[in-house]
Amino acid sequence: MKVVQIGTGGWGKNHARILSQLGVLSAVCDADPTRAKEFGTKYSVNHYSSVDSLLESEKFDAAIVATPTSTHFSVATLLLQQKKNVFVEKPMTYLSHEGEDLLKLAKKNKVILTCGYIERFNPAVALVKEYVKSKKYGELIMLEFHRESRMPPHIKDVGIIYDTSVHDIDTAMWLFDDTPEVVFARSGKIRHEHEDFATIMLGFKENRVAVISSNWITPTRVRRFNAVCGDAIISSDFISQEVKVETNNGTEIPRKEIEEPLLLEIRNFLASAEGKEKILVEPEQAVNTTKIAEAALLSSQKGTPIYLDLK
Ligand SMILES: NC(=O)c1ccc[n+]([C@@H]2O[C@H](COP(=O)([O-])OP(=O)(O)OC[C@H]3O[C@@H](n4cnc5c(N)ncnc54)[C@H](O)[C@@H]3O)[C@@H](O)[C@H]2O)c1
Repeated sequence: MKVVQIGTGGWGKNHARILSQLGVLSAVCDADPTRAKEFGTKYSVNHYSSVDSLLESEKFDAAIVATPTSTHFSVATLLLQQKKNVFVEKPMTYLSHEGEDLLKLAKKNKVILTCGYIERFNPAVALVKEYVKSKKYGELIMLEFHRESRMPPHIKDVGIIYDTSVHDIDTAMWLFDDTPEVVFARSGKIRHEHEDFATIMLGFKENRVAVISSNWITPTRVRRFNAVCGDAIISSDFISQEVKVETNNGTEIPRKEIEEPLLLEIRNFLASAEGKEKILVEPEQAVNTTKIAEAALLSSQKGTPIYLDLK
């Protein structure tokens, strides 16, 4: 298996590290030639400063794309046209119809297309998913997500909904195992070019709800969620990976060993590209997340709920 890393910025450098650890990194590509050379030298692999030159000179089976959101569609299109298996960082595309085009191309060329919704690989989320699926603590009724961090100044092309809230949109659909019927959102901006605070409510059937609150205003880094079930309140921290279960009988903190979600995510991509595993994040689900992000922005602009008919 030969894998290339496209985009070696703040996040892509982590992909490159793991691909190198797994012994599958064959080249890196970054529009910034200095970064391309730095990581090519660091991992003793070929380096390129454009996707065209990479495709011209390098033989490989799969690519991970960690470039800015606005470039995902064009970069992924070039790769899929050449029948490469493609992992695109979140959100898969800025526009949902571009995501649908990628999906069709991947299907036509019979290659894997997936997206970096990494929280599904977070052991804390995986444990809550197990509880919800087995109904260990009854039915899942409500989800509350809270993410806050200092504004990332290098993110210029999207606001907090596309950059940050999408993680929670995906996790909500993953835990409910459903798509929302309605989206209502309020968002605004204080310092960023795009929205830097947002609260999004996703309405699922039978009055189930997910409330997603995100902001880039505070100086602290918080990433937490609560799952309200019929017989317990489960609270969790995406960062520490701790899970706390409160029932009428007291509080329990089930332990799980800390694992790097990115490693698990990349392993699943590689195994599915080799036909050994099912891909966990299906491209249709990533397109739905973009559709919900679009609806959240629209809802916020119009001040009304947006009703969706997602498959
Ligand atoms: N899953 C996660 O938890 C997570 C975390 C952070 C970022 N991300 C995602 O990763 C992506 C990158 O974010 P980042 O914070 O690393 O951004 P960044 O700006 O730090 O890095 C982007 C890199 O891509 C390069 N680049 C730009 N256009 C290119 C092109 N056409 N071809 C090749 N290289 C190109 C830039 O030179 C830069 O080095 C975004 O989609 C972001 O949403 C995901």
